[in-house]
Amino acid sequence: MSDFDLKSFTIPGQHYLDGVLLGGYSPRESIEMVKTFDMFEDDCVVSAYPKSGQTWSLELVYLILHYDSYYENEETDSLMRTPWLEHGKVDNARLRELGEVPRPRVFKTHVAAHQLPEQMREKHSKMIHVLRNPKDVAVSYYHFYRMDASLGRFPGTWSQFYGMFMAGNVAHGSWFDHVLQFWREFKDNKDVLFLHYEDMVKDHAGAVRKVANFLGKSLNENVVEEIVRRTSFGSMKQNPATNFSKFEVFDYSVSHFYRKGKVGDWKNYFTVQQNDEFDEVYRAKMADSGLSVDFGE
Ligand code: PPS
Repeated sequence: MSDFDLKSFTIPGQHYLDGVLLGGYSPRESIEMVKTFDMFEDDCVVSAYPKSGQTWSLELVYLILHYDSYYENEETDSLMRTPWLEHGKVDNARLRELGEVPRPRVFKTHVAAHQLPEQMREKHSKMIHVLRNPKDVAVSYYHFYRMDASLGRFPGTWSQFYGMFMAGNVAHGSWFDHVLQFWREFKDNKDVLFLHYEDMVKDHAGAVRKVANFLGKSLNENVVEEIVRRTSFGSMKQNPATNFSKFEVFDYSVSHFYRKGKVGDWKNYFTVQQNDEFDEVYRAKMADSGLSVDFGE
């Protein structure tokens, strides 16, 4: 594919909030609403920068918290069971709908740390922040940008997307800013768990036990096994309730939402020069943070 004129590329409804690029699928009012959203103490918010393994984590958390009733509503779409707080227009009807989600409620969000519900702290609601190494995030995001009409079905090359990603010129802004803000603000907060995609891939059952323990649920090993089976890449890709197959905005002839589900796919995309540049930026930005991620090297 040849390079195209990047200046002509915008995503539908593109806007900026606090200097961060956002798509029309999350309007300004909806993001601002999240801050004042009413929380319960047994809520769990699953937050993440895009393409970090959030859908996988949401299903895993939902199954842990609702295992006993899961089979009654297993055909309900995951976006109904674990709603995305700032998705679409959030009016009174939507707020009522979100308020009536069966407890314990599990929510998805991509908002920045300072845009989270203010009541989370006083209510001690739980948050799981999902993290993935940013090289794989960039590659996954590139393919998602190509297939998702909400992101403009990006027609450019990997190198062009890499430039946009490094400049933070993609929806939800710079990976570094987004992740470091969460890390700095919540790393010592006992109501928050940082869950690494690469750890989930390495030890799926261990991740289920860890999340269950964090959420105060004790699961017997048969249940752990069943949750692992139901949240495997293959099961989620086949399950109509989790695979977004009815989403008309996704063009599956370009790429699948469940694309590869691997650690280290970035090696098939990054040039030596891009990798050197990335490592230098990574070292400079992350140096004093105490946060490390696994690039699968
Ligand atoms: S989104 O659009 O921001 O909500 O995307 P998100 O769900 O955070 O991330 C999508 C990537 O996660 C992979 N994925 C999985 N990997 C392993 N196991 C399971 N069960 C699983 N479910 C989703 C998905 O394939 C995307 O990664 P890539 O690298 O593109 O395959």
